[in-house]
Amino acid sequence: MRILSAGKIKRFLSLILVFAMTAFMLFGCASSSGRNDSIKLKRELYVGFAQVGHESDWRSAETNSVKEALSKENGITLELVDCDNDIDVQREAILDFIEKGVDYILIAPIVSTGWDDILEKAEDADIPVIVIDRTIDDSENYVTWLGSEFTDEGLAAGEWLKSYANEKGIKEINILEVTGNKGSSAENGRTAGFHKYIEYEGWNIIDSLDGEFTEEGGKRIMDLFCEEYEGQFNVIVSQNDNMAFGIMESLDAHGISYGVGGDVIIISFDACTAGLKKVLDGSINADFQCNPLQGPDCLKLISDLENGIEVQPETTMSETWYAAEDIIPSITYFNSMGEEVTEPIVVVDEKAVEDAY
Ligand code: AHR
Repeated sequence: MRILSAGKIKRFLSLILVFAMTAFMLFGCASSSGRNDSIKLKRELYVGFAQVGHESDWRSAETNSVKEALSKENGITLELVDCDNDIDVQREAILDFIEKGVDYILIAPIVSTGWDDILEKAEDADIPVIVIDRTIDDSENYVTWLGSEFTDEGLAAGEWLKSYANEKGIKEINILEVTGNKGSSAENGRTAGFHKYIEYEGWNIIDSLDGEFTEEGGKRIMDLFCEEYEGQFNVIVSQNDNMAFGIMESLDAHGISYGVGGDVIIISFDACTAGLKKVLDGSINADFQCNPLQGPDCLKLISDLENGIEVQPETTMSETWYAAEDIIPSITYFNSMGEEVTEPIVVVDEKAVEDAY
């Protein structure tokens, strides 16, 4: 019998680990987006949903997922208010839900603070509040939160860039960052996670501006950056796919090459269908998923609450990290809980694009 060397055993074990993690992550995503055909509510419910807006493909996917799950067929009348990124409109929508005496309030908060008084009103009216997507940081008057661990998305992006630069022999990292809306926990978390690597690795961050999570915002900021910093940057971090589309439009207009084989590495977040298409064609180098398919889990939470089953205070969506090239099979890093994790980097193929949202 052939005895394997310690090195070979280690490589074999890490391959098994990556395989198992891939299966877990893919299965986890599928189960989060699965249908809840078995859920039957005991009574008809009226649910008010104060949604952020319609700024991105991700947002539309989340809205559709919630609409599909909290549907008439499932015994729910859903009143959806698209707040168009306006905090006052979102607050008004919630006050209106309280006045109407809805059975549940669902909030995807535009910003993470300024909620204390409103949520106290919901509590006084005995209306359970479920927070989805972004977090609320200045009130505990809600039953549960369901969404993404944004800091881990930023940490994973940082670890991927570190490994990618090592692999490609890139010595200097000069970053331009286009963030999402300031004050949103999506922006806070991704910035906090990625900036840890800027600090640890001594990377140079040239500038960082708010592109408001929109394609127009991404283009507007990148036009400014191109005028100001042409020839000085080799990495762009775009905190969502729609801004990356605007950024690429601007880079094209300025004759700057990007993506695989280009002068500038592009990192994005969301992994929506159009984003993964850009990874597949090599325009975006890596895309860190933010999973918007939260509807089925929302329905399950409501059903549990209706049945008097205690729900956990937090549910985190499972997410996958994608890249264009097959050179970094996995990343190992300390996540926001301080745990050392090894996660696969999935190379985008047609199937991944088809399965996206
Ligand atoms: O809160 C999630 C973020 O908000 C997504 O990254 C972005 O696309 C959306 O608008």
